[in-house]
Amino acid sequence: MPRDAGRADVLTVLRSATAGTHEQVETALALMDPDLHRDRLVAVLTRLHAFWRSAEAGLDDWARREPADAQAVGWSRRRRAHLFARDLEALDAGTPAGIGPDLPPVEDTDQALGRLYVLEGSTLGGTFISRHLATLPTLGPGVRVGAFSPYGGETGAMWHAYRRVTREHVAAGGDAGRVVDAARATFAALAEWCAPVAVAA
Ligand code: HEM
Repeated sequence: MPRDAGRADVLTVLRSATAGTHEQVETALALMDPDLHRDRLVAVLTRLHAFWRSAEAGLDDWARREPADAQAVGWSRRRRAHLFARDLEALDAGTPAGIGPDLPPVEDTDQALGRLYVLEGSTLGGTFISRHLATLPTLGPGVRVGAFSPYGGETGAMWHAYRRVTREHVAAGGDAGRVVDAARATFAALAEWCAPVAVAA
C-alpha cells in the first residue's frame, strides 16, 4: 500500500495506485478498436460477466452482514452482472455460464469500497465505450450494449455518491490502506482474468 494512504485523499490514492493496472486492462480489452468485431466483443463480455458475478457475490455477502453500509452506498442499484448477460443474449451469444474467478471474500466495508471503486469506476470509461460500440456496424441493427454504461445520464451522480460515501467512511475511521489494497487486488484479479481475451499489446 502507498505509504501516504492514511493521509492523502483516499480517492486520489485509489486513482494513482491503480492507474497502471487500469491502463493494462484498457489495452488488453481494446474495446475502442474501430474494427472490433462481434466475436471479440462476445468473448470480452463473457469474461466480464463472469468476473462481475464473482465480484458481486462477495459484495452480496458483505451487504448481508453490513446492511446499513450497503444501503449507504446504494449497493442494490449497482449490481451489473445481469446487464452483461442481457447484452450477450442481445448479441445472440446465449446465456453465459458465468463461472468466474475465485476472489477473496469481502471482509468488511473497507474492502467492499475498494472493490466497488473498480466496478463503479468502469462506468466512467464505460460511457465512451458504449458510445463507440453504438457506431460499430458489425453488431447488427438495433443492438445496444448496455452493461458498460448502466446509469446513462446519472453516471456522474452515481460516481459522485460512491466517492462521497467512501470519503465519509474513511473520515469516520475506515482504513484507507485497506480500501486501496482491496482495489488493487480487485484490479489485479481482473487483469489476470482478462488475459485470455487480451489483444497483443
Ligand atoms: C472493465 C474494465 C475497466 C475498469 C474496471 C475500469 C476502471 C476505471 C476506474 C476505477 C476509473 C476511475 C478512475 C478515477 O479514480 O478517476 C476509470 C476511469 C476511466 N476509464 Fe476505465 N476501466 C475499465 C475499462 C476502460 C476502458 C476499456 C477504457 C477505454 C475507453 C476506459 C477509460 C476510462 C476513462 C477515459 C476514465 C476517466 C473518465 C473520467 O475521468 O471522466 N476504461 N476506469
